[in-house]
Amino acid sequence: MFHSILIPSAEKNEGKNYMDNYKTTIAYWEQKFGERLSTNKRYDAQEQLSYPEIEEGLKWLTQDAFSIIDFGSGTGSILLRCVFFGIQKAIGIDISHKAIELAKQTSKQNKMDTKTSFIVGSVESLEKFEDDSLDAGILFNLIDNILPDDAIFVLKEMNRILKNGGKLLIKLNECSPTDEFEENDYFHLISDDFYKEKSGLYFWNLSEKKFKEIISPYFDIVKFIEVPLHNTNHVNRLYYLKKI
Ligand SMILES: C[S@@+](CC[C@H](N)C(=O)[O-])C[C@H]1O[C@@H](n2cnc3c(N)ncnc32)[C@H](O)[C@@H]1O
Repeated sequence: MFHSILIPSAEKNEGKNYMDNYKTTIAYWEQKFGERLSTNKRYDAQEQLSYPEIEEGLKWLTQDAFSIIDFGSGTGSILLRCVFFGIQKAIGIDISHKAIELAKQTSKQNKMDTKTSFIVGSVESLEKFEDDSLDAGILFNLIDNILPDDAIFVLKEMNRILKNGGKLLIKLNECSPTDEFEENDYFHLISDDFYKEKSGLYFWNLSEKKFKEIISPYFDIVKFIEVPLHNTNHVNRLYYLKKI
């Protein structure tokens, strides 16, 4: 059974405006995506992604699927690659205006804008979607970078929104030993295994055990693989999931 993690009241998701909890997250991503927007470089959805493991995951996810939702869609490149694989209705949601602007421009440039919609919003925007209405979902480097209570809310909402047997692909950062955080003043501990980085981003150092605990009411794990990251010793964790 998951026990809600105690978060200091200022960080709690009890305010009406969920965006308020993410001011530093928004500032971080506005800066990053602003830099990308100021260049002419846009993702070409015909191009293979640089990680074959992700390509394979997206092929599994999009097989026989008509519609898909990507929460925390960033530049939109993952979603546009799904359109390349045959998705007809793709929805991207992101808290960063600049990410959404970049995704819209990239979609247009790829002539995919009749099949995509990109929306600025945080977790509350999921409430607008109807039950059992979409075939597949994507949560890449998102669940462990938002408030734990919001992460659980997102999993619950994805379970509600996806059709029976709907597929979800989740990518998580690596889980590191706790002592690495104790020795490192880049990470400020907020509550159990939950940190705020100096960058302004949240990081939930989610163990396998904890992830299984929070996912088990909503999704079955079909497959799990580690994705070695280029030019580092680190991995991302990729979970293939099916709605219970
Ligand atoms: C690490 S990036 C991953 C982007 C994309 N999923 C990918 O894999 O390329 C995290 C993204 O999540 C978005 N994000 C962070 N917190 C969010 C929230 N509470 N609601 C919606 N999006 C959020 C950020 O703006 C950013 O675009």
